[in-house]
Parts: sequence; structure tokens; C-alpha cells
Amino acid sequence: MNKMMLKAPAKNMIDPFGRAVTYLRVSVTDRCDFRCVYCMSEHMTFLPKKDVLSLEELETLCGAFIDKGVRKIRLTGGEPLVRKDVMVLIERLGARVKAGDLEELTLTTNGSQLTRFSKDLYAAGVRRLNVSIDTLDPEKFATITRWGRLPQVLDGIDAAVEAGLKIKINAVALKGTNEEEISSMIEWAHARDHELTLIETMPLGEIDDERTDQYLPLSKVRRDLEQKWTLTDLPDRTGGPARYVKIEETGGRLGFITPLTHNFCESCNRVRLTCTGQLFMCLGQDDDADLRAILRNDGPEALADAIDEAIGRKPKGHDFVIDRNNSAPAVKRHMSLTGG
Ligand code: 5AD
Ligand code: SF4
Repeated sequence: MNKMMLKAPAKNMIDPFGRAVTYLRVSVTDRCDFRCVYCMSEHMTFLPKKDVLSLEELETLCGAFIDKGVRKIRLTGGEPLVRKDVMVLIERLGARVKAGDLEELTLTTNGSQLTRFSKDLYAAGVRRLNVSIDTLDPEKFATITRWGRLPQVLDGIDAAVEAGLKIKINAVALKGTNEEEISSMIEWAHARDHELTLIETMPLGEIDDERTDQYLPLSKVRRDLEQKWTLTDLPDRTGGPARYVKIEETGGRLGFITPLTHNFCESCNRVRLTCTGQLFMCLGQDDDADLRAILRNDGPEALADAIDEAIGRKPKGHDFVIDRNNSAPAVKRHMSLTGG
């Protein structure tokens, strides 16, 4: 989409710290066909269906945010593509991209359903996907995701590339699990022209394992990579939390998302909507606004006011810590509820 063709937003959302909120992440379901060890416990209790917004309600809420100046929407989960009839919502939001109301519609997915959905996603107006892969070793992949199978995801990525979608790979850095493999993952991704971003584990929700055992600071990963490769810092900021380097030897870009070793909240441009209509102003804080009640009981003006009021409460930042004294989650909810 040519930016020049974008319509000017009716009104911008500016938070108390002067940050313009232009990016909405929407978790369309808390369900997932994987059970990643750092994300969920094996026996997760999911939300009762009655609490979950219909696709029409999600579309209405997204529309309210577009009217308030949101330029980019990312659908997440859980796994967004396991939600029944999710393509209906994707097509409707894609139409807003085609109409110039929205700059971009993207998804974060575990890739398990891409063989089935890639062509439809492209047709709907999606151009980029983030696919989460933490290891290229099929056995380790099955261990980390518990229920996932790597070949299915790799076939899905092939289908997405075939359909014309640009892929970015997200990998959570896990101590003793993919630590040794990160440079080969970089080689794999860059050889295919996929950007790769590494993420530190965040203390979100109760899981079965001990988080301190999983946590691998990216400052250490970077030092290890520098033994092998030349990393050049890039000034690129994509509006998100990632810092980028160029790996001279591969020519590709590597991102670092370091919520624990480096706080990036000062440039935060996003809010997160759950599939139950709760709006979270920060991934790492508990405060939320219940937009479902307002959506169901009041009119569009009340909804717009509630959004303004919530943005007025957007906190300065998160305060994640993972160490032996602080192994409890920073917030009780899982990433699969709020969306990654
Ligand atoms: N910490 C960091 N990343 C997480 N993800 C899920 N749970 C966590 C967590 N606790 C990642 C997934 C995916 C993205 C949506 O978030 O691996 O890449
Ligand atoms: Fe599912 Fe993503 Fe959580 Fe893994 S990290 S269980 S793929 S929502």
C-alpha cells in the first residue's frame, strides 16, 4: 500500500507520555494447537466460548481503533488460524487496508496452518507474517512445542513464500535448548531471505517449568555470536521493541527483543486487545479496560470515550525481572491471552 494513499486518521490517540498509539495487536483466540513450554502449561484451561467476542464484535472494535488512528493491526493468539472462520475477519480487515484506512494487516502464527491458509491470506491483503520457530531440530521442536511438528511448519512456510508472503521468524532464546543452534538458525533464515528476531522469555503466566531455567539473556547470545560473526548495529527502528544488527557474513538482519536486559518502553506505540474485549495498555502490567461490556451495552460514542480513557492510563512501562527471588510471573495472564 502506498503511504501517500492513506487517508488521514480522524483523531490520534496520544498517551500521557506523548506516545502516539498507532498499532493494535488483537488476540483472536486464546486457544492453540501447540503447548510451548515457556508459554503454556500442558493442561491449559481456555476461556469459555461465551466470554469470547464474535468475529463481528472483533471487527467492530478494530474499526473503532482504526477511527482513532490505528494504522497497523496484527492478529495473534493463541494461534489465530485455529479460530473458526477467522478468514472472515481477516478479509474484512484486509478490505480496510485496500480502502487505505489501514497501512498494514499482519499475523503472528506458529505456522501450523499455513499450507491451508497462505493463498487466502495473500488474497485478503496480508503481505507479511511472523512465524515462531525456536529450533530447526525436529525432536527439540516437538519437545519445546509439546504438540507441534516441525515439518508441518516448514511446509507451511514454503506455502506462504509461494503465495507471495514475506516471512519473519521469531525465536525465543532458551537456555540449554536452542542456545547452541542460534547461529545455524541465522544461516538458515538469512539464506531464505527471512529476517530473524530473537526474544527473551518473559514472565507471563504460570507454566510447568521453572522460568529461571529457561531464561537466556540476549546480551550473552550476542557475545557468543560475535565470536563467529561481525555484527553491525543498525539504526533501524520499526516502531517495535526490536533492535537490529546486520550480520556482515550473511548480509541479513537480526533483531533482538530484550524486555529483560534492555527496557524499550519509551517508544511503545501499541496496545493489545484480547478475544474477550479486554484492552491491555501494556504487556507487562495488569491494568485493563473492559471494552466488551461497553460494546455490548452502549453505543459507539461510549466505546470511543472508553478507548480514550484507557489510553489515558497507558503506563510508562513494564518491570519484568527473572531471577531466583522473582520466579513468580509478573502478570498472571499468559502470552496466549494477550498476544505476543
Ligand atoms: N516470553 C517470550 N516470548 C513468548 N512467546 C510466548 N510466550 C512467551 C514468553 N513467555 C512468543 C512466542 C511467539 C510470540 C507470539 O511470543 O514464541 O514467538
Ligand atoms: Fe501456541 Fe504460540 Fe503459545 Fe506456542 S507460544 S503455545 S504456538 S500461543
